[in-house]
Amino acid sequence: MNMIAQYAKEVKENIRRLGEVSELPKKSLDWMLSVGITGRYTYNFSWLGRPIIQYPQDMVAMQELIWKIKPDLIIETGIAHGGSLVFSASMLALLDMTEAIESNTEFEPKASKRKVLGIDIDIRSHNRSEIEAHPMASRIQMIEGSSIDSDIIKQVEEFASGYKRIIVCLDSNHTHEHVLAELEAYAPLVSTGSYLVVFDTIIEDMPADMFSSRSWGVGNNPKTAVHEFLKTNQRFIIDKQMQQKLQITVAPDGYLKCISD
Ligand SMILES: C[S@@+](CC[C@H](N)C(=O)[O-])C[C@H]1O[C@@H](n2cnc3c(N)ncnc32)[C@H](O)[C@@H]1O
Repeated sequence: MNMIAQYAKEVKENIRRLGEVSELPKKSLDWMLSVGITGRYTYNFSWLGRPIIQYPQDMVAMQELIWKIKPDLIIETGIAHGGSLVFSASMLALLDMTEAIESNTEFEPKASKRKVLGIDIDIRSHNRSEIEAHPMASRIQMIEGSSIDSDIIKQVEEFASGYKRIIVCLDSNHTHEHVLAELEAYAPLVSTGSYLVVFDTIIEDMPADMFSSRSWGVGNNPKTAVHEFLKTNQRFIIDKQMQQKLQITVAPDGYLKCISD
């Protein structure tokens, strides 16, 4: 076995061992609760200057998926300040640059067919201006409206029809009903071998009184929606390896791999 294959084998083994440590999930959850409550942890990061409401661990996971899948379109519900759109757009720019290097052609920074499509019910004007002025803006398209509104879904389907390799990320309203409707609407757009990533499934594992001011909570959140969706949908499986290796993630049971057409 060569050194590269040997290294990959060791990593696989590390991840398997992590999954065997029964006290780790609780320790990780305790840590997430601590930093989340006292430090509003997810709000404290930015990507290329735009605030991104994600854990760094999940950003690295997304980077791995994007590099592996090499999507031509990433669809994201939930824009907020635009950090996740800029993150995805920057990854697509790197894919374009890589292809240019590999094919010995000119990298044209603003001339990519690869796009990120963001949908948000309320794109605040200051956020829109910053996103539109960002160096990554040529790869970003935005639609304002509810992600489960039939007109919006139609617009997304029309946009997606010109693309072949699609990743979908759901990070908008976190109620069971809303996420289940998003899953039904957007899962058919995910290409085989690609991923449907559902953020904030962690809500199900948090203390019941933590979300009293929210319309979601324990029993009513993205994870319950994922589990219901998977009862009738055979195209997707939960990528347990991903959460096993991350340990710290807002998306346990949320990394869904599309395994068939
Ligand atoms: C958690 S933030 C998104 C964070 C962003 N993905 C990031 O990583 O930086 C949730 C966003 O969902 C939006 N949202 C809430 N309800 C929605 C709906 N029905 N349709 C689309 N977006 C919605 C909110 O306006 C808010 O901007």
